[in-house]
Amino acid sequence: MQILVTGAAGSIGQVLLPGLTALGHTAIGLDRVPAPGGHDGAWHVADCADPDAVLDAVASQPLDAVVHLAGNPSESDLPDALHSHTLTTAALLDAMVTQGIGRIAYASSNHAVGRTPACDSLGVDSRPRPDTYYGVAKVAAEALLSLFADRHGIDAVACRIGSFLPEPTARRHLATWLSPGDCVRMFEAALTAPAPGFAVLYGISANTRAWWDLTAGEALGYQPQDDAEAWAHSLPVTDQDVFEASVVGGPFAGPEFHRPALGNAARLSRGDQ
Ligand SMILES: NC(=O)c1ccc[n+]([C@@H]2O[C@H](COP(=O)([O-])OP(=O)(O)OC[C@H]3O[C@@H](n4cnc5c(N)ncnc54)[C@H](O)[C@@H]3O)[C@@H](O)[C@H]2O)c1
Repeated sequence: MQILVTGAAGSIGQVLLPGLTALGHTAIGLDRVPAPGGHDGAWHVADCADPDAVLDAVASQPLDAVVHLAGNPSESDLPDALHSHTLTTAALLDAMVTQGIGRIAYASSNHAVGRTPACDSLGVDSRPRPDTYYGVAKVAAEALLSLFADRHGIDAVACRIGSFLPEPTARRHLATWLSPGDCVRMFEAALTAPAPGFAVLYGISANTRAWWDLTAGEALGYQPQDDAEAWAHSLPVTDQDVFEASVVGGPFAGPEFHRPALGNAARLSRGDQ
């Protein structure tokens, strides 16, 4: 497949591009920054929130699919989050309709359901329950994928990624870890599953202590091979562990992330200039 990968300069992109290439795909990078050193394939520098720039990039070569990773993976205020995650998704979907591209795999997040109490079987039909404006923006992006699947027949798989890391570094990751190898396997499944329509899967490895049900991903062909349990005895116990295991969003559900939805309005109301 010929696949455009947005956010290709980021931590996931720098694993996914070579991973997809190794599987025989042609992966074309797009980011608002130039290609990292060592990348020698095609690359577009563009802002995914700019619909004209996105259409130019999408129309520059034949494509079978898009992987949309671009976005700020941290919490901000609501307008920034919607700009970074929801508007970028809209610009890509519009360009895909114009160019007749029928498949998108999206880097959604566990924070779309981050306020859900942790259990061992959270399914994809659980109601959206974001823990942050970041999570709200991911829920809205997923809603756009669903709309474009219904309106235009686009196959759109939202991958609610847990914690993508080379290896677990905190006890929460025993439940939430997505290994680099499983990340590539997950996106490969999301890109090649036959006619999924709109679908959601949880992007974690086969963790013994997983909070999410992997059935939906398995139905799409995602077969994770790694397990964070191998690190269980080496991860330090901390005071944060009990809180971080109470809801699936972990620290994002904590009070330090409570902030006004509209940052500027909040500053004005405090009398700031
Ligand atoms: N890393 C994780 O554990 C994790 C977990 C859940 C979801 N996600 C999602 O996966 C995606 C990638 O995450 P990451 O960890 O690689 O993040 P990252 O910050 O390492 O990389 C993001 C990349 O996107 C680019 N980018 C941001 N906004 C852009 C825009 N408007 N136009 C073009 N490029 C833009 C940045 O330049 C950067 O290279 C994000 O959407 C994030 O929300 C990541």
